[in-house]
Amino acid sequence: MHNKLANGHLPSKPHMAGLAVPVRELHAGHRNEILRHLLLLNEEDRRLRFGTQTPDEVIHHYVEGLDFNRDKVFGSFDSQLNLIGMAHLAYLPKTKGQPQAAEFGVSVRPDGRGQGIGTALLARAAVHSRNTRIETLFVHCLANNRAMMHLAQKAGMRVEYAYGDADAYLKLPPANSATIVEEAANEQWADFDYAVKENFKRSSDAWSWLFGKPVVRPT
Ligand SMILES: CC(C)(COP(=O)(O)OP(=O)(O)OC[C@H]1O[C@@H](n2cnc3c(N)ncnc32)[C@H](O)[C@@H]1OP(=O)(O)O)[C@@H](O)C(=O)NCCC(=O)NCCS
Repeated sequence: MHNKLANGHLPSKPHMAGLAVPVRELHAGHRNEILRHLLLLNEEDRRLRFGTQTPDEVIHHYVEGLDFNRDKVFGSFDSQLNLIGMAHLAYLPKTKGQPQAAEFGVSVRPDGRGQGIGTALLARAAVHSRNTRIETLFVHCLANNRAMMHLAQKAGMRVEYAYGDADAYLKLPPANSATIVEEAANEQWADFDYAVKENFKRSSDAWSWLFGKPVVRPT
């Protein structure tokens, strides 16, 4: 059974307890997990995520086309190492005389929502953007996407509405030593969290194999 929390061993709203939600940088080896995560989104969530009806074939095409060298993809994992939330930070082509910009897209599995995972993915993407000289971060979303609007406004983004769509953007200050340390610390914390979950999953799988029943996860 899926553990509902990205941090099953932590309080139900870890961000409210001042604990950072671990966010890992994903690579090409995570393509299958990304695909699985996106295919699990229902029709409405896919519409909110991609701004239009998005059948399975389009998701397959999108995941195959992810360029991990150009863009950054971030993820948060649950206790069974399923991808509970993911964000795509797409670097927009450079335009002469214009500040360098990136676009942020995010999805969190319905059973993981309201626990700060979306907020953590946005915060991680914003700090990574600063550290890679991005000056403007955009989020394009449907104007009725209340949760995303709330998330964007909470992060200090300015939201502009036009024809049923909304563009939220954030002007980012340049990186400094604090942003570099923040990103490194989050990466380390995410690696540690992943290793703990991996060990637990391994011993739980071994236990199930030996005795035919799963280990009850400590709370
Ligand atoms: C938008 C989304 C990523 C948010 O993920 P999440 O993990 O639930 O986000 P968080 O828990 O960090 O924060 C959600 C916030 O929105 C608020 N919220 C949720 N639904 C809301 C609604 N209908 N109206 C207003 N606020 C809402 C929550 O109360 C929470 O606010 P708080 O932190 O101040 O309490 C998630 O809902 C999702 O995947 N939606 C489908 C895809 C999508 O819309 N992507 C965005 C477009 S790219």
